[in-house]
Amino acid sequence: MTSATALSESIDHVIRGRRATRAFRPDEVPAETLRTVFELAGYAPSNSNTQPWQVEVVSGAARERLADALVAAHAAGERSVDFPYQEGLFQGVLATRRAEFGAQLYGALGIARDETDLLEGYNTKSLRFYGAPHVAMLFAPAETEERIAADMGMYAQTLMLAMAAHGIASCPQALLTFYADTVRAELGVTGRKLLLGISFGYADESAIVNSVRIPRAALAETTRFRR
Ligand SMILES: Cc1cc2nc3c(=O)[nH]c(=O)nc-3n(C[C@H](O)[C@H](O)[C@H](O)COP(=O)(O)O)c2cc1C
Repeated sequence: MTSATALSESIDHVIRGRRATRAFRPDEVPAETLRTVFELAGYAPSNSNTQPWQVEVVSGAARERLADALVAAHAAGERSVDFPYQEGLFQGVLATRRAEFGAQLYGALGIARDETDLLEGYNTKSLRFYGAPHVAMLFAPAETEERIAADMGMYAQTLMLAMAAHGIASCPQALLTFYADTVRAELGVTGRKLLLGISFGYADESAIVNSVRIPRAALAETTRFRR
């Protein structure tokens, strides 16, 4: 039996240790471990236990073809988005936090806002899953609205924590969903909406981008305890 202290120390370690990883080693995760973490992810809660997620885990040659198709769609300007991303979505303190995050990430990468060539090169890396050997595409039912999207979020975080506990690094990537038709065509998926892609594998610890630690708002900024 795991003692309560060991359990709380472990979960603390896993939650704080998971972070968006943006450089990976090429080694694949063993098939058995893949099954373990995706089975664990299925224990995520959902409205009335509806489990709306449908997940495509893409590796090997299929991963190469998908990366090539995404880069080609991007170059051709063929965007197709199931869940529209409006400019101005992030307002007030959210806009401030987003700007701080961008400054920290691009600062670590040494890319300035006006260096469009470097930014473009970075986009290509992103579309090739930051070098990760696997990507999980999280599809939602065609009729998805906010409540179902919330269930999908529960699944995504449960999956990334399960991965972290097994030494697997991940990066949730909204960018991959900007080419939803391309992803569906490559994977032969119909009748579902693409909500999120998660690149994953083993972190390249030598990459500077992986040394970035994104801070969080103080507890009092987000949470009130009342009685
Ligand atoms: C729904 C969602 C979409 C995201 N999309 C991207 C993305 O397209 N590219 C990327 O590099 N990171 C993306 N991220 C990672 C966030 O930037 C990251 O989680 C946040 O800055 C906090 O950093 P941390 O996860 O390292 O703690 C996304 C995260 C979430 C939850």
